[in-house]
Amino acid sequence: MKALVLAGGRGTRLRPLTHTSAKQLVPVANKPVLHYGLEAIRDAGITVVGIVVGETGAEVRAAVGDGSAFGLEVTYIQQEAPLGLAHCVLIARDFLGDEPFVMYLGDNFLLDGIAGLVDAFRASDHDAQILLTKVTEPQFYGVAELGPDGEIVALQEKPENPRSDLAIVGVYTFSPAIHEAVRAIVPSARDELEITDAITWLIDNGRRVHSHFVTGYWRDTGRLQDMLECNRMVLEAIETTVRGTVDAASEITGRVDIGPGATVRGSVIRGPAVIGANARIDGSYVGPYTSIGEGCVLEEAGVEYSIILADSVVRGVSPLTRSLIGRNVEVTRAVGLPDTHQLMVGDHSRVQLRA
Ligand code: TTP
Repeated sequence: MKALVLAGGRGTRLRPLTHTSAKQLVPVANKPVLHYGLEAIRDAGITVVGIVVGETGAEVRAAVGDGSAFGLEVTYIQQEAPLGLAHCVLIARDFLGDEPFVMYLGDNFLLDGIAGLVDAFRASDHDAQILLTKVTEPQFYGVAELGPDGEIVALQEKPENPRSDLAIVGVYTFSPAIHEAVRAIVPSARDELEITDAITWLIDNGRRVHSHFVTGYWRDTGRLQDMLECNRMVLEAIETTVRGTVDAASEITGRVDIGPGATVRGSVIRGPAVIGANARIDGSYVGPYTSIGEGCVLEEAGVEYSIILADSVVRGVSPLTRSLIGRNVEVTRAVGLPDTHQLMVGDHSRVQLRA
């Protein structure tokens, strides 16, 4: 069995980060979300992996390489534009050959991995297996409507009027029958080849499509609140590791991972939290569920329930909460300008200031 990992796409919901960076590389507990997926694939006993990349292909290639660091053999498949999930299967035809495969959306995160569902598919005679979970905002997902016996009645992609609250989780398993399906369908109203249409085609053509419910924790990290929640979930399980230095005037409580070369002075850190390598935390407060990237500087600052990417600076500002801050960003006080806010933010940024 092979794996097809989708790491292209537009990532509009995570702008402006995705203007400059692949959304699959946004870190969760300081590790790119894509890496968790690749590890889950390896742990399911799959080693041959194709990664579909788009405009951010160079960055994905740099972060994954030939896959050997993960125990994988990785082939890259360039998609000329984000033409849909089923389009990814179409262009991966030669790579996939006639083997069954798991299709993994590179921004999805399953805490319990995928070994169980891959094994279940291997032992079955199904042509497709989809995973479902109840969500509160089904309009943002692929949605499945089930009949009285649990059979799939209809699938819709990000529907305006969802017919159920069952979202399709971004891990699918397919037999080679899917290739005929992706060739048979036509682009949707939003001009994408939809995987939901390809699966519907399988059902309409008498193929065996099976669905079952995800029991463990799952998140599509395509939106800010999901990214933060996923970060929280991973941090719940970290162990205390201090490889940097913490001075006597600092107070560390709860589980905190402090990377090599990091320094913490006169600060309070309440875990669970991770502080990346070579970060500097001075006179600051880092609260629960926070990931501070490598090389960041916090001075007289407070941050909680947030993700800060590498090499950013927060100085004299507190408290930041529910925030996702990109690389090389500076958040500081507007010195000499009382009662004002001074901003230079990129396109599609969102800034919420205290009223
Ligand atoms: P989506 O989250 O459905 O699409 P998107 O990345 O365009 O995001 P947004 O809605 O925020 O604009 O994509 C799911 C995954 O599949 C994601 O990892 C990107 C990837 N993908 C491709 O590789 N090629 C594609 O053509 C599409 C649509 C998505």
